Amino acid sequence: MTQILSAKSAAYLDLENQFGAHNYHPLPVVLEKGEGVFLWDVEGKRYYDFLSGYSAVNQGHCHPRIIASLVAQAQKLTLTSRAFHNNLLGEYARFITGFFGYDKVLPMNTGVEGGETAIKLARRWAYAKKGVPENQAKVLFAEGNFWGRTLAAISSSTDPSSYRGFGPYMPGFELVPYNDLASLEKALQDPNMAAFMVEPIQGEAGVVVPDEGYLQKVRALCTEYNVLLIADEIQTGLARTGKMLACDHEQVRPDILILGKALSGGVLPVSAVLADDEVMMNIHPGEHGSTYGGNPLACAVAMTALTVLKEEGMAENAEKMGQLLRSELAKLDSPLISTIRGKGLLNAIVIQHPNPDAAWDLCLDLKENGLLAKPTHGDKIRFAPPLLINREQILESVSIIGHSLSRFS
Ligand SMILES: Cc1ncc(COP(=O)(O)O)c(C=O)c1O
Repeated sequence: MTQILSAKSAAYLDLENQFGAHNYHPLPVVLEKGEGVFLWDVEGKRYYDFLSGYSAVNQGHCHPRIIASLVAQAQKLTLTSRAFHNNLLGEYARFITGFFGYDKVLPMNTGVEGGETAIKLARRWAYAKKGVPENQAKVLFAEGNFWGRTLAAISSSTDPSSYRGFGPYMPGFELVPYNDLASLEKALQDPNMAAFMVEPIQGEAGVVVPDEGYLQKVRALCTEYNVLLIADEIQTGLARTGKMLACDHEQVRPDILILGKALSGGVLPVSAVLADDEVMMNIHPGEHGSTYGGNPLACAVAMTALTVLKEEGMAENAEKMGQLLRSELAKLDSPLISTIRGKGLLNAIVIQHPNPDAAWDLCLDLKENGLLAKPTHGDKIRFAPPLLINREQILESVSIIGHSLSRFS
């Protein structure tokens, strides 16, 4: 369909285009306000947010309790650096380790820094505890993984648009197919293997859900071969899939847990790496850190963001609303949708259409009809609204989706 942008919106797009690097291809909508499951553009049009900032806004936009914590702490103290102590880091560390049941936390900012931190911890553990010879440690990833854009992250990527033209790449990284236990077992037998880093559901790959039991078997194999299991729960964690962690669906406890995104409810970058002393205590002063990591503003916000998830029953709501969303989508019975998949409120549809831009065009149509979603890998569209969405809102969203699909040829 033809998209007519107002002069006001077009001016914002032009500004970004002229002065910003062209490293994204956003949908042509300019947002200026958010509340709960809704976003508003600069013309005042309201949309359902079906992306939630790639799951950073699980608690909903501008959640009042999170914003209140942010504002109160911002007026008091925001950053000390780790050169000094601050009065919230210890409290936060006790809170988050208790919340997830680990001995220690290492606070960082973005998700990708969390991944880098986890890999450094795994390599250090391999030298200090497993007896891997110096500089020989390997880390294993699953094909289709996504954990960010640093040089290490793209070195493990199987997506050419992530890694092409940015070499040379990080050595010591190996790949196995996702959801393939036989290949995993073979790779884990390598005595220099330090860790297997895996997403319980591959988000960016298009919400790829492994077979039931996969994670449990991964856990068992990692234990058998003395390889650390690193769970990248940056997108799947924090109630998104209907449990506080996606690993909880299979009662799996990773050796290293990485969290980010919704750890701040979308108000500032906050990530965390959790592990027990056996892993965490191999890193000593001066060996790792970040100027902003553990800042008091982040500590205050993260405690509230986690409290909100628990006290407002967001995992339970995600589970119920996710089931409703998938069953209502199935009822649309659209020939355009070849697959509906997901867990909780981390869902995707796969579009089948001879036009390779069909998913993008459908997202433009959805936008016109008041719902924002974005394709990933061409033909997949993620449907991941904030976790406080209610039944009526799911039904209205599905009717918008149905309407857009039916007008789509
Ligand atoms: C599973 C996963 N890990 C890591 C990251 C990287 O997080 P960030 O963009 O905050 O660096 C992402 C981002 O989408 C992700 O989905």
